[in-house]
Amino acid sequence: MMPRLREIKGRLITVSVSHVRRITTSRLCTQQHSTYKPPQDEDLQMPECDFQPQPYKGMSYEKALELRKKNLSPALLTYYKKPLHAHQGYMQWIFDADGKRYLDMFAGIVTVSIGHCHPRVNAALKSQVDRLWHTTNIYMNSQISLAGEKLASKMPGDLKVVYFVNSGSEANDLATLMARAYTRSFDIINLRNSYHGTSPSLLGILAQTNWKQNVPLNFGYSAAMNPDVYRGIWGGKNCRDSPVQTSRDCDCNPGQCKACDGYVGQLQEVLDYAVSSRIAAFFAEPIQGVGGTVQYPKGYLKQVYEKVRSRGGLCIADEVQTGFGRTGEHYWGFQGHDVIPDIVTMAKGIGNGFPMAAVVTTPEIARSITTGIHFNTFGGNPVASEVASTVMDVIDEEKLQENANNIGTSLLLKYAKLRDEFPIVGDVRGKGFMIGIEMVSDKETKTPLPAEEMADIWERTKNYGVLFGKGGRFGNVFRIKPPMCITQADADFSYAVLRKSIREHLEGL
Ligand SMILES: Cc1ncc(COP(=O)(O)O)c(C=O)c1O
Repeated sequence: MMPRLREIKGRLITVSVSHVRRITTSRLCTQQHSTYKPPQDEDLQMPECDFQPQPYKGMSYEKALELRKKNLSPALLTYYKKPLHAHQGYMQWIFDADGKRYLDMFAGIVTVSIGHCHPRVNAALKSQVDRLWHTTNIYMNSQISLAGEKLASKMPGDLKVVYFVNSGSEANDLATLMARAYTRSFDIINLRNSYHGTSPSLLGILAQTNWKQNVPLNFGYSAAMNPDVYRGIWGGKNCRDSPVQTSRDCDCNPGQCKACDGYVGQLQEVLDYAVSSRIAAFFAEPIQGVGGTVQYPKGYLKQVYEKVRSRGGLCIADEVQTGFGRTGEHYWGFQGHDVIPDIVTMAKGIGNGFPMAAVVTTPEIARSITTGIHFNTFGGNPVASEVASTVMDVIDEEKLQENANNIGTSLLLKYAKLRDEFPIVGDVRGKGFMIGIEMVSDKETKTPLPAEEMADIWERTKNYGVLFGKGGRFGNVFRIKPPMCITQADADFSYAVLRKSIREHLEGL
């Protein structure tokens, strides 16, 4: 199909002719769903917020941008044509330097778990800052002990030993070290399309080309086929642990999942051909985050864990994005797969934006790295620990996991209607507040929506006051992972904005 150029707001973009033809079909499709009443444009009313940001008195937009370009990494990823100049945050809201309010549906990349500048966390942080910042762990402090106890209490089984570090990458580095030290084996299996951090060692298991550096990285890592039931070679209508299934068909009998069998078979091939007879570990996110909210077939991780363990390997769950109630049904993403890992790593949501991360494992595995001193200067310092303890309290007391379950599920079901309505919405998936919307230029071929088209829709959503994330191997997945305090009105507004932005994009307004 020959693409054609269309002018949108003075800009030429490429639009596949099939979009145009399919708009007509999709309108028919909407009409068939008699219960579905698309929101009218008047619904595009941003929910109220009684918080008043302080007036911005900092440097000009132009100066901030100039200094960012001059002094910061040239490899920085900067969102939007006109990057947002963030000034203040309050709960689910971000205010820019001009005072414009945005609904934050990406939470600083899935990090602001309970809301920007949550008053309780701010109060706890300020009080701790006035008492004691730092000693390292050569002395005791009650904050780290309390945070460790709270975190361990959230874990099943024998997962009771906590290491505090400062970032997800550090947590995964430590998990790698432990797995190799404990098993005295080297090979690690990961999944294609996974993201576990960008330290030199983790770039080996980060299995997406666009993040790799052109230096030797993959020593000791073997990536298995990604069990992506939407884009992968196998997948059907009942594979996912999500209220929204793929639009694929399948002929599986009840209780059977051929997609699961196929992908487990691929992992078995890695065990058979790519690694030595004893392996160190298997690394996986319960739901892939940066990779575009990719969910595996139900039962996949359970079978893989058994296979990995039968070859002496440990199973590592990277909960950096899925942890702390975000998936709604459970506190940890791995619980949705009915598995108990040997090592769990986490970051982001535990600190609500404060640098804080952790590794949790069993006493037996923890002993494996006692042959040398293990030390981390900042890990779990009193301030970070106080923040983490308060964040965990707030998640429980404000029932944010429940909120992720209720509002997240209703939001997912709402977003799923976009797939019925528009020819370029290929897939809607996820659980709780971990949602992905994969955009395509053709539903049959699943050709990723071209970057310029994604960007056009995305800019529109920002202009209407909603911040979404973007990810996936082809950058064609909207990632929707808001602070877990959003309300139904916020969720509805985000839906209305995305719907309007897609429609305007297609109509070339
Ligand atoms: C699943 C996952 N693991 C690990 C990391 C690395 O965390 P950090 O950026 O804190 O090093 C990330 C970061 O996005 C992530 O999404």
